[in-house]
Amino acid sequence: MTEQTPRETRRTDYRPPAFLVDTVALRFELDPQATVVRSRLTLRRNPQGDATAPLRLDGEALVLLGLRLDGKALGANRYALETDGSLVLPDLPDACVLEVETRIAPEANTELSGLYTSGGAFFTQCEAEGFRRITYFPDRPDVMARYTTTVVADRARCPVLLSNGNRTDAGTLPDGRHFATWVDPHPKPSYLFALVAGDLLAVRDSFTTRSGRQVALAIWVRRGDETSCDHAMQSLKQSMAWDERVFGLEYDLDEFNIAAVSDFNMGAMENKGLNVFNTKYVLARPETATDADYDGIQRVIAHEYFHNWTGNRVTCRDWFQLSLKEGLTVFRDQQFGADMGSAAVKRIVDVRRLRAAQFPEDDGPLAHPVRPDSYLAIDNFYTPTVYEKGAEICRMLYRMLGPDRFRRGMDTYIGRHDNQAVTIEDFVRAISDGGGMDLTLFMRWYSQAGTPELTISETHDPATGRWTLTLRQFTRPTPGQAEKQPLPIPIAMGLLGQDGTELPTRLAGETEARPGTRMLLLTEAEQDFVFEDLPAPPVPSLLRGFSAPVRLGGISRERLRFLATHDTDPFVRWDAGQHYATALMLELIAGRAHDAEPDEGLVAAMASLLEGADADPEFAAEALALPSESYVADQMKVVDPEAIHAVRQLLRRGLGRRLAARFRATYERLTDTGPYRIDGRASGQRALRNTCLAYLALAGQDGIALAKAQFDAARNMTDALAALVVLAATNTPERDDALAAFHARWRGDELVLDKWFSIQATSPRPQTVEDVRRLYRHPDFDLRNPNRVRALVGAFSAGNQVRFHDASGAGYRFLADTVIALDPMNGQIASRLINPLGMWRRQDAARGALMRAELERVLATPKLSRLTFEKASKALA
Ligand code: TRP
Ligand code: ZN
Repeated sequence: MTEQTPRETRRTDYRPPAFLVDTVALRFELDPQATVVRSRLTLRRNPQGDATAPLRLDGEALVLLGLRLDGKALGANRYALETDGSLVLPDLPDACVLEVETRIAPEANTELSGLYTSGGAFFTQCEAEGFRRITYFPDRPDVMARYTTTVVADRARCPVLLSNGNRTDAGTLPDGRHFATWVDPHPKPSYLFALVAGDLLAVRDSFTTRSGRQVALAIWVRRGDETSCDHAMQSLKQSMAWDERVFGLEYDLDEFNIAAVSDFNMGAMENKGLNVFNTKYVLARPETATDADYDGIQRVIAHEYFHNWTGNRVTCRDWFQLSLKEGLTVFRDQQFGADMGSAAVKRIVDVRRLRAAQFPEDDGPLAHPVRPDSYLAIDNFYTPTVYEKGAEICRMLYRMLGPDRFRRGMDTYIGRHDNQAVTIEDFVRAISDGGGMDLTLFMRWYSQAGTPELTISETHDPATGRWTLTLRQFTRPTPGQAEKQPLPIPIAMGLLGQDGTELPTRLAGETEARPGTRMLLLTEAEQDFVFEDLPAPPVPSLLRGFSAPVRLGGISRERLRFLATHDTDPFVRWDAGQHYATALMLELIAGRAHDAEPDEGLVAAMASLLEGADADPEFAAEALALPSESYVADQMKVVDPEAIHAVRQLLRRGLGRRLAARFRATYERLTDTGPYRIDGRASGQRALRNTCLAYLALAGQDGIALAKAQFDAARNMTDALAALVVLAATNTPERDDALAAFHARWRGDELVLDKWFSIQATSPRPQTVEDVRRLYRHPDFDLRNPNRVRALVGAFSAGNQVRFHDASGAGYRFLADTVIALDPMNGQIASRLINPLGMWRRQDAARGALMRAELERVLATPKLSRLTFEKASKALA
């Protein structure tokens, strides 16, 4: 156990700050070992705050060099440094100027929170609570101030000096130093502060807003990377135009800068006017980046850009409101993605992500509401629930209101709360007022954890032509929430006739039938919906476009097959196919079906997908892929990772053999895709072709040769990697040759090298655990680099179910060893890695005991970070 159990922060304990900060003037003298930070705060007692409370400034890992109040040095009797690091000043005048001087050591900062160095340059990361590692400050989002930042550094080492806002001054100083001053006119919380300094190059462009403002755009990268920024720049300009067109939101500064950094805890950060990005979400060339990487760049660039309004101009009152900015911004980036390509495929991809990460979280020991009630470490709450389920909540609002009313709600939200730090209630109230819909009940989506389970039953009366659909919802208890209430669930639906055509629908009480999709709102635990004019029982198509984040079960296989072929909604078609395949796999696993030959229904469905693939190759590739092993696991009470893997392989091999000629023909037909383009059709063709390759490789010997030939001839990373994944699963000389060639060619490119680690870590070969241990000691492995840790350890533990759950417990031991080694360096990354061990309840008794033992070993480690302590202790509870 840790020496002192860390204290919980509770949502209901919120108190307004005692002091407000109107302006902050910062001056940095950059030095890797000893950076001096001078800060000048204009303070004012908060009329809404406690009139007698002292000023409390947060601080962490700081050396205090000096304090001056209204120009006079403060004696040691006028302030106190508390054990939690904060600086407390009683007896301050109601308005005053406080000057604080601190020293920090960026090079020693392995947490990558606050000011740190990477590749010789300086970067900051302040969300959520990193600013307190730079200077003493009320480091909470409801304190919004105007910042002026002067950065001083050695010109040779740091020719580029960046911060938030617009650059207003720059010049030369003695001793080879220079400076730049940046002014950010918009008040902001400290978590949006940023500074970047180093030997970086700019790729420049510009954007003219629709009101005619010229914005200078720049992406700052290391020398050599300037040829890999085209896609990021393109995505930025598309995002800027989209937010104007769809939400009427314009950019509000003269400059927009993006800086790319190799050592970064997350994907990217939306600092005002100076986004900082993981290189993974900036750099791409066809030879180095896959189609999935290109998509990721477009998504993350859009996400951070959209935060400029949803997050920055309107921000969060406290960290419990995190989904206010994250859920809404994910929803916005998803809508953008849908508009940039195939909306149907985008929805499929987003739902797959939700089901892969959020549904299991909602089902496990770390389940929490989209707005949590308490935390030990806020960094543990940047979760799929806050992000992805939060986005689903916004999407439900959007679908219930429709685009126009939702837009009016958004206009109300931004208009009412510009430059404020607000709550989720404020958001929902604005959408409700602007959109014109009572959303009182809807707030439950934010407070109740767990995924609702939906079941249906139907009755038909041929005499009256009445058909009744009964919908039931049920949510299981989650930690700390035994009782669950019914939620308002919007169900987009339609009815199909027995011949597969879409029927118009008329609910009892309505005068006219409506064509196409309509919305039902389920608000009770059980509710009937009565439809008229139906002489024969129809087939309901429910949750079109996945209109709510729920589990819909109990649909017969026959009906799934029908929907997969006939439904007009592409999401339901895809989903019904996936459910059908899942049902088959579960049956095989349970030993109820012993056929070595695949189900004829599935073969026929796959054959017809291949037949019609040319019309929409992107969709065909999605639909031809079987549900992942972890998705199947999520459907089982007690997971059997070996059986899942075996059955899925059996099915894939069977399909590969049965349809070998068709897979082969499709593969050949798509072999020449011409010069590399990244539009949906071209990437869809590559995805389809690579899906065919994977089936062919399982089907027989010459699949391996095909993969090796593709690997050798590949002119883009998508094709090279797909072939390498196939080879890495085998015990062949081709595998060793390809991996060696890949390493030799790409050892100098860290992002590509990450792929080399991941491919080996996700191989289903039995010896993968030993391989991963060996790769951990490889000279190219670096525990301090989060991308590399995720590429090896994260890929293995979260992306290789069958090997991570090796019955010996070796996978669990490896993960716990890594967490223990990493925690003292970077608690954020260590605590994120631990999640797969938390799923011990879903494994059999023997595996469960091994997993618990590793969690206990982690928890017994002296000086454990509070992040990892919180995760490990909650996982065991
Ligand atoms: N706000 C960032 C986003 O959603 C993510 C973020 C939160 C982050 N904490 C961070 C990024 C810590 C890096 C490090 O885009
Ligand atoms: Zn975000």
